[in-house]
Parts: sequence; structure tokens; C-alpha cells
Amino acid sequence: MSSSAGDMSIDDAWNSVQSAVLTLWSKTTRRMRATGAVALFFFFCILLFGPSELPDASSLPNLPTLPEVSLDYHDPPKSPYNISKVALLIENRPNPILAPLLLHFMSVVPPDWRFRFMGSLESVQFVNQSRAIREQVDAGKLDLTYIPANMSTAGQEMISRFLTTLWLYETVLQPAEWLLVFQTDSMLCANSRQSLNAWLDYDWVGAPWSPNARFGGNGGLSLRRVSAIIDVLKNQEREINSEPEDIWLTDRLGHRPGAKLANGTASLTFSGEMYSGDGELVGSKASKNSAHKFGDVAGELVKGIDDWREGFYEPMGYHTGGSGRTLHSAIWGTQAMRKHIWDYCPEVKMMLEMDAAKYVPGNCHAEWKRWDQGESGAESEPVPETEIIDGVEYPMIPAGLLSPW
Ligand SMILES: *[C@@H]1O[C@H](CO)[C@@H](O)[C@H](O)[C@H]1NC(C)=O
Ligand SMILES: *[C@@H]1O[C@H](CO)[C@@H](O)[C@H](O)[C@H]1NC(C)=O
Ligand SMILES: *[C@@H]1O[C@H](CO)[C@@H](O)[C@H](O)[C@H]1NC(C)=O
Ligand SMILES: *[C@@H]1O[C@H](CO)[C@@H](O)[C@H](O)[C@H]1NC(C)=O
Repeated sequence: MSSSAGDMSIDDAWNSVQSAVLTLWSKTTRRMRATGAVALFFFFCILLFGPSELPDASSLPNLPTLPEVSLDYHDPPKSPYNISKVALLIENRPNPILAPLLLHFMSVVPPDWRFRFMGSLESVQFVNQSRAIREQVDAGKLDLTYIPANMSTAGQEMISRFLTTLWLYETVLQPAEWLLVFQTDSMLCANSRQSLNAWLDYDWVGAPWSPNARFGGNGGLSLRRVSAIIDVLKNQEREINSEPEDIWLTDRLGHRPGAKLANGTASLTFSGEMYSGDGELVGSKASKNSAHKFGDVAGELVKGIDDWREGFYEPMGYHTGGSGRTLHSAIWGTQAMRKHIWDYCPEVKMMLEMDAAKYVPGNCHAEWKRWDQGESGAESEPVPETEIIDGVEYPMIPAGLLSPW
């Protein structure tokens, strides 16, 4: 190592410093040493306990300035979101539920997921009116995009064509590998103990059409594996006006070599629509619960706290039939089931066509004014349409929504 000290090595330098100090020491008197010690003591006291503010630079004129050091790793800041996981809502109708529904899903789906809303000029503009939505767009969590001009989502057949287009999966959604499709008649429950990320192994999972099926489930709330769907769509084309896209796709996905689709039993714990699944078990019995065989289930239900959940079916989410106009009896058919859902997943109220004017709990009935009856109030007393279950008043599902049973 060459240095400005010429040929002097570090050892030589140290030796000469040592001898200089010793010479100095031998030439000082006791009094000088004592004075020096006191001065050193004060110096350290000021360093340790003195005013914490540094004197400004002007009072220390001759101090050398340190060069500024900055490290540039040439890497973009790490995004908290995983571009391979995309939750997609397609809706061309402006609907007041869109912003709250998107925001709810964003908080229940694991935080690494990205979201995409695909709409018409009107519905995108409508969603974009929400400040909370625009903040999610700015944060890179949500993309607002338009349904491609050469596609339509008007009606079941058009949506089926859209969702079986290779271009959608291969180009538009690229680089997504896991796709959560949800619609305005679906809900994920904040109180669920399951994580969507526990289902990533499957090529497809959605509310089952049969609890005994080997595979297949409703596409309205479904997790899909994009590469598997691309593989199908590269080899086959859906005939127009044929089966709905979810039936068509799962049938083909399920018959691929090495396919991994959730069976009826597993799908029931993912989403409920037509069939009920195993009931929850409270306490130590819970380890035998079938839900544990599928998705990761956090924490045990605790005796004395969670007893109200005992024996009830708690899927991670719900999908309703006929765009939210059919509620099946296996899920909604008894007062006890409905009471459990109001407690377990109260957010389902967002997607049901419930008229708040008909549900006025407490002592408000007499004061309630229907705007459509004029500001002066109702001519006759409005009849509260609620049902009392175990002494508690709950909203009544409008008769038209319940499927006959
Ligand atoms: C995205 O998620 C997948 C599945 O959990 C994971 O394998 C992958 O490493 C993640 N990517 C990043 C960049 O974190
Ligand atoms: C949403 O609104 C913001 C602010 O008004 C605007 O800058 C942005 O372009 C809009 N985005 C879309 C997709 O319309
Ligand atoms: C829509 O346009 C894209 C890009 O031009 C094309 O790849 C795709 O096949 C078209 N889709 C339909 C249904 O025509
Ligand atoms: C689904 O798979 C699980 C575990 O692999 C099995 O226990 C269950 O019986 C299967 N259900 C059906 C309907 O095949």
C-alpha cells in the first residue's frame, strides 16, 4: 500500500508516535499533568452533557467538511403489490355499489393483490368520482380501465364471449397469473378466517354447482389460473350462443392433463351459493373441521366467544344467483341461517336489493318520512318490513329475492 508517508510502515509510525508521547510526558511537571487532566475532564464533560445543539458552522471556521455520500442502487422502489395477482371487476353499468364494493374487496383480499376495474366510459367516470378510489389509483393498487371497444358486456352471452377471449387473458390482463373475478352480486366476508392466497394452487375455484362434483363452480366469484386458461383458449374456441363461460372453461380446464381444480367439497368452503357446507366447530373439535384440509384457517373458534358460529356454514364468500335476484334456500332459507349471515357477513347487505325505508329499527318509525311521498311525510304509517329473530330485529329480505322452497 503506498501512502503519503513514503516508505514509513504503519508500525514505524506507531513507534514514533509512542516515543514522542513518552518524551513529552517525561518533560512535564506534576502540576502541568494535573492541569492537563482537569482540562481533559472539562472537555469530556462538555462533550457529554453540554448543549446538544452543535455550534453553527461559522463559529468553527477551519473544520474540514465531509464529502457527501449517497448510495444509488439503481433499483426502483419495491412495490408492495404483486403484479401476478389481479382481482378484476367488469361492470358497464354505473352503480352506486361499485366504489364501496371495490374498496371492501381491496381490504379483505390479501394486501399484495392488485385490482382492476374494467368498465364503460360512464361506469369508470362514476367510480372515479370517489376520492377513496382515486387515492387507491394513485397508490398503484387499482387500475381503472375500459372494456375494449370491440367487446361488449351487455348480457350473459356477451360477458361469456368476453371471458373466453384469448386476447383478454394473454394480452389485456398480462402479466397476471392469478385472477380473482368478482361481480356486484358477490361478497368476500371480512369475518372469514380464510385467506384467498390459500387457494392459489387451483386452476379454478368458485361456488360449486354440485357438492359432489370433481370440479367446477360459478365464475361470478372465482379464482382462475391464467396460464391454464390461455392453454385451453389456444386450442379451443367457444361457439357463440353456447354454454356460459364458467361451465365451458371449467369443463375444458378439468380435462387437461395435470389439471388441479377444486372439487365440490373444497369449493364449498371458498364460496356459497346453492349448497351449504360443513358447519363450524368451536373449540378443540375444530381441528377436525374439513375447512382445515383446504385454505389456511387462522385461529380456533373460542368457546364462550364464538358459540354463535357453532354448526353454521361459513364460506369465505357468497355469490348470489341470477345477478343477485335469487337467494337459494340451502343458504338463506331459515331464520337461523339468515341471522347467522347478518352476524357473520353483514356486508352481504350491500349486494341485496334491500330498501332501507322498509327497515327502520328502533323507535324511528313514527318519524320516518318517505321522500317519494312528499316531505310532509307518509299518509299512512309505513309498515316496517323486518323480522324478529331471538328478540332482535333484522332486515327482511324482499319476498321477490327468495327462491321458492
Ligand atoms: C407473487 O406471488 C406469488 C404467489 O404467492 C409468488 O410465488 C411470487 O414470488 C410473488 N412475486 C413477488 C414479486 O413477490
Ligand atoms: C379520475 O379523476 C382524476 C381527477 O379528477 C383524473 O385526473 C383522472 O384522469 C380520472 N381518471 C379516469 C380514468 O377517468
Ligand atoms: C379486439 O381487438 C383486439 C386488438 O385489436 C384483437 O386482438 C381481438 O381479437 C379483438 N376481439 C374481438 C372479439 O374481436
Ligand atoms: C375432494 O377432495 C378431498 C381431499 O382431497 C376429499 O376428501 C373429498 O372427498 C373430495 N370431495 C369430492 C366431492 O370428491
